[in-house]
Amino acid sequence: MSNNLNHDLETKIIHCGHNADSSTGALASPIYQTATFAAKSVEHFEELCRDFGYVYTRECNPNLTELELKLAMLENAESAIVSTSGMGAITSTILALVKSGDHIVSSDGIFSHTKLFMNELLGKFGVEVTFVDATNYINVKNALKNNTKLVYIESPLNPTLDLVDIKSISEVAHENKSLVIVDSTFGTPIIQKPIDLGADIVVHSLTKFINGHGDTLGGAAIGSKEIIDLIKWPSLPCFTGASLPPMSAWMIMRGMKTLDMRMKKHCENALTVAEYLSNRDDIEIVKYPALKSHPQYDLCQRQMNGFGGGMVSFKLKNEINGLTRDEASRKMINGLKLCTIATSLGEEHTLVQMNGENLIRLAIGLESAKDIINDLEQALENLV
Ligand SMILES: Cc1ncc(COP(=O)(O)O)c(C=O)c1O
Repeated sequence: MSNNLNHDLETKIIHCGHNADSSTGALASPIYQTATFAAKSVEHFEELCRDFGYVYTRECNPNLTELELKLAMLENAESAIVSTSGMGAITSTILALVKSGDHIVSSDGIFSHTKLFMNELLGKFGVEVTFVDATNYINVKNALKNNTKLVYIESPLNPTLDLVDIKSISEVAHENKSLVIVDSTFGTPIIQKPIDLGADIVVHSLTKFINGHGDTLGGAAIGSKEIIDLIKWPSLPCFTGASLPPMSAWMIMRGMKTLDMRMKKHCENALTVAEYLSNRDDIEIVKYPALKSHPQYDLCQRQMNGFGGGMVSFKLKNEINGLTRDEASRKMINGLKLCTIATSLGEEHTLVQMNGENLIRLAIGLESAKDIINDLEQALENLV
């Protein structure tokens, strides 16, 4: 196992937490496809239960441990816990940290299911949530109360691709003794590291860029050992049954080994597509954090190391060839031949989805940028 701090990230992603199998020498990690683990004696069983050893896969499993070590390393954090999906990780983290009577300040415009969870479910347990436009950190500061336990933000936001200033928000939240959770799914640790910027917990949908192949779900919460231990025990993924299956952990680890190079290609493709779209007369607005026209371009340079990520959102102009924006957007999307109409993101395929107010969201894949652009061009040219 190499946890050499001098190694570059690409090297550490591959080696951290990994050993060749001690009994067979298998270099790829075996998949521990087992529900239960045998103990040598009653006393050994008791010891395993006491010391969080491997007892039962809903509680822990070696494939999950290896993935958790790699994720903690990637985010420059001490510890991580994985779960069945991004939503599994987000709900487990929030439920573990709040109690009845607590208050949460959340960024508006977050992933719709996270917002639904906060709106529909947390209220039932006596937790109050205030949603604010967190693209201006002063709005977060003004919404903090004595009982604000958590500040929950996402950056870049889905689907508007607006940014939230993680450092400034962490500073004002900490003055109020509130913990900061950042959903960094769109950023990935290759582009932005919320813990380094002052956040307490990072959550990810591993389903997206980190796995990168659109073939399994997964999620994670990452932070200090003290905070992650609160989520591990009482272990919410364990008690709610939202534990990650070993096969999924293994698949995510395999995908993750190429995260660095994939993410750079997603960003390169996305910037090329965003520049192409912003040079067209029939497009009203293109949202991409690394475009100079993005209102938070400077924040992208500071917070995302100048990378814009793999997502591009845009809106067509109204009245293209007598079509309303809604008609033209539908016709354009239905005319795409390479890009697939589908939700999700961070896969090798380019995916397209229309959101409210005809905002078209492209999850840019790993195909050639030229081919993605040619597909968009033929669909746009067919509108006239
Ligand atoms: C920003 C963001 N966070 C969390 C999630 C939830 O992840 P999962 O689908 O793995 O539960 C999604 C899903 O699209 C997302 O886009």
